[in-house]
Amino acid sequence: MGKVYVFDHPLIQHKLTYIRDKKTGTKEFRELVDEVATLMAFEITRDMPLDDVDVETPVTTAKAKVLSGKKLGIVPILRAGIGMVDGILTLIPAAKVGHIGLYRDPETLQPIEYYVKLPADVEERDFILVDPMLATGGSALVAINALKKRGAKNIKFMCLIAAPEGVEVLQEAHPDVDIYIAALDEKLDDHGYIVPGLGDAGDRLFGTK
Ligand code: URA
Repeated sequence: MGKVYVFDHPLIQHKLTYIRDKKTGTKEFRELVDEVATLMAFEITRDMPLDDVDVETPVTTAKAKVLSGKKLGIVPILRAGIGMVDGILTLIPAAKVGHIGLYRDPETLQPIEYYVKLPADVEERDFILVDPMLATGGSALVAINALKKRGAKNIKFMCLIAAPEGVEVLQEAHPDVDIYIAALDEKLDDHGYIVPGLGDAGDRLFGTK
């Protein structure tokens, strides 16, 4: 079963409080999401592989480490996931960025992919799939299907806030995908919003309704 990691770093938790606050306007909301994405990227990259190297310091030769150069891909689920991309790129500027767009079938209400554009070398990359909210889990599930169908083997899912319902759905459907969150909230309401949540992440990021 996929593990759930809650990033309880004080800076992440502090900023998340202001992201939740309904008085926080679009500009500040966007900046805070960007900052939290950077902090989460710092935590999520803890297991990046390192190579041993020798480096000449002004004093002597030191045994040191450099990143082994494992290729990374960041994939936002459109549209709210876009709000987390730049914050991650701040720490991993060489990562390639794919995009996955989903729409809801009006009859079945199931998410269906309408746009998938990924780096060419999908099979060689580790992916971080991002969406600020893991609510029912439907979108994340379909997005992971889309990545796997195209050859992705190593996927992490990162979001700001998850509902227990969404975590369960994802763990059941994709037990190989670990979930990285800033907070695990209480539940979903009748409209599929996370409670207490932060409202509609896309609308708050882009200033729409
Ligand atoms: N998507 C959102 O933007 N907010 C929720 O609470 C649930 C899904």
